[in-house]
Amino acid sequence: MAQINFGGVEENVVTREEFPLEKAREVLKDETIAVIGYGVQGPGQSLNLRDNGFRVIVGQRKGSKSWDKAVADGWVPGETLFEIEEAAERGTIIQYLLSDAGQIAVWPTIKKHLTPGKALYFSHGFGITYKERTGIVPPADVDVILIAPKGSGTSLRRMFLQGRGLNSSYAVFQDATGRAMERVIALGIGVGSGYLFETDFQREVYSDLTGERGTLMGAIQGIFAAQYDTLRAHGHTPSEAFNETIEELTQSLMPLVAENGMDWMYANCSTTAQRGALDWWKRFRDATKPVFEELYESVRSGNEAQISIDSNSKPDYRTKLNEELREMRESEMWQAGAVVRKLRPENN
Ligand SMILES: NC(=O)c1ccc[n+]([C@@H]2O[C@H](COP(=O)([O-])OP(=O)(O)OC[C@H]3O[C@@H](n4cnc5c(N)ncnc54)[C@H](OP(=O)(O)O)[C@@H]3O)[C@@H](O)[C@H]2O)c1
Repeated sequence: MAQINFGGVEENVVTREEFPLEKAREVLKDETIAVIGYGVQGPGQSLNLRDNGFRVIVGQRKGSKSWDKAVADGWVPGETLFEIEEAAERGTIIQYLLSDAGQIAVWPTIKKHLTPGKALYFSHGFGITYKERTGIVPPADVDVILIAPKGSGTSLRRMFLQGRGLNSSYAVFQDATGRAMERVIALGIGVGSGYLFETDFQREVYSDLTGERGTLMGAIQGIFAAQYDTLRAHGHTPSEAFNETIEELTQSLMPLVAENGMDWMYANCSTTAQRGALDWWKRFRDATKPVFEELYESVRSGNEAQISIDSNSKPDYRTKLNEELREMRESEMWQAGAVVRKLRPENN
């Protein structure tokens, strides 16, 4: 573990140089890692662990598309692919990667197989932090640990195949064996993380729920829609409004931000763009700050958790979700986007 200075603040981080894959394999050489759930994170984490040389099995309920996907990805029923309960029984480390609502429903089954010395692993602090609402309270004689990749399971896999790594946070909630820390770091390296940064379960879930409702997903769609609608209301064409709101951002500017930061992106734009952006960004910050405070409070109070538990536990959850996504897809802005994507030279 190294202390790294992030803009004046010291943090504990782990990189692959300090904790190489060989060391991770040594730490976990006697473990069977049971990855429970083959949704989005399940495939990414289990395949990366398998390709990195760990003993991995998958637990997934039969008769669903996820089971078929697991078979298509090379998991063999009865050998490396099992029903959830059997995998939980066989695993010494149980990676609990069902949806957050699924974790609540299946908890009694998992709990039964948490015998002393096993490790229960999460990729989200949700179940443990909101235990009054989820009922997830692990026995005292197992390790409870977390690796939360900061991105989609799809990106985790893609970046692994490209020889890159997605950064993840790590946390130990309960160290029953004295080995929780080495187990969690080894798993973080094993699933293909870039660097690992320290957190705890509560901070992980508060920041994660805020981030996805905020700039990562909710706020960004909101600000896109506000700008697009303003341009359209003033007579700009869909093509112009989409290019000035989204296409230029995703295709040209964000890759520059990813490479060298916002100031560098500004420095590589016209002087007119720089002047305007420097004048306006603080106004947008000040206008949205109260909304972010409201959002954080809604996360902290457990309100966001309850909303998501209630809606995601309903049987028609997926139908309703698809309906909301269809509405977004069929909005003029994203219809314009579909055309713009088709017109990209690489797609012609
Ligand atoms: N999505 C991400 O990339 C991401 C990123 C970071 C962290 N995480 C965390 O990783 C964990 C897994 O998330 P995810 O997005 O991968 O989940 P997901 O795609 O929603 O996972 C669905 C999995 O849960 C199973 N499942 C759901 N309800 C079930 C039930 N009642 N009984 C049995 N199985 C059930 C599904 O099986 P069926 O297919 O059979 O329904 C599928 O295997 C969560 O804690 C999440 O917060 C996710």
